[in-house]
Amino acid sequence: MAQLNIWDVNWYLDEAQCPCDVHFLKYLEAEGHRDRTIFHFGTGGHHVVGLRCHEARTGNVVFGITASPPEHDDYEKLIIERPEVGRTYKVLFGDIYQLDARLLPDFDIVTLFHVGEFRTEKNDAYGALTDDEMVRLLVGKLKGPRLVAFYDGSYAFDVAERITATMTKEGVLEPVGAFESLRIFRSVARA
Ligand SMILES: C[S@@+](CC[C@H](N)C(=O)[O-])C[C@H]1O[C@@H](n2cnc3c(N)ncnc32)[C@H](O)[C@@H]1O
Repeated sequence: MAQLNIWDVNWYLDEAQCPCDVHFLKYLEAEGHRDRTIFHFGTGGHHVVGLRCHEARTGNVVFGITASPPEHDDYEKLIIERPEVGRTYKVLFGDIYQLDARLLPDFDIVTLFHVGEFRTEKNDAYGALTDDEMVRLLVGKLKGPRLVAFYDGSYAFDVAERITATMTKEGVLEPVGAFESLRIFRSVARA
């Protein structure tokens, strides 16, 4: 029987090795984003995006996903100890490649920093989405400013580049620009 392709690591914040989450927080501040509904792929055990958005009191709310049991355990501990954080920051345990659009709200900003990093034949074994399908599903949930952010420091950034180039050619996405290690696109219309 196929098992869920979990990521059994509890990732601590390491800005030198993986600065995407910190760059994203700086981007939100630099662009003055407020009251945004944010989907965040890969919370880390540090939960820095959800936590700092909460602490900044800018009205940005975060829906994160992690495939790491210890990272989700840490989220449970966090919101038990600080229930006010749980109001603005929700974390789903699961495989992003099993999302179903019918079960998701719309988002102003979607972060997809880890596209291509974890998608293997283990996901195929239970009929999970491909990278391309997952990106299209989440782009299809964009509203408002309709922004999607990728991370050019990812070892699988070629996958994001390939998918965004195709979607740009199709007229679904348009490049907005770069912010530190982030590459930002806007969906032209609902995909
Ligand atoms: C290297 S950590 C990076 C965490 C954080 N974004 C950072 O840069 O510090 C990778 C993250 O992706 C998550 N992840 C890995 N595979 C996943 C999957 N199939 N679905 C959802 N999340 C996944 C892990 O649980 C973890 O939170």
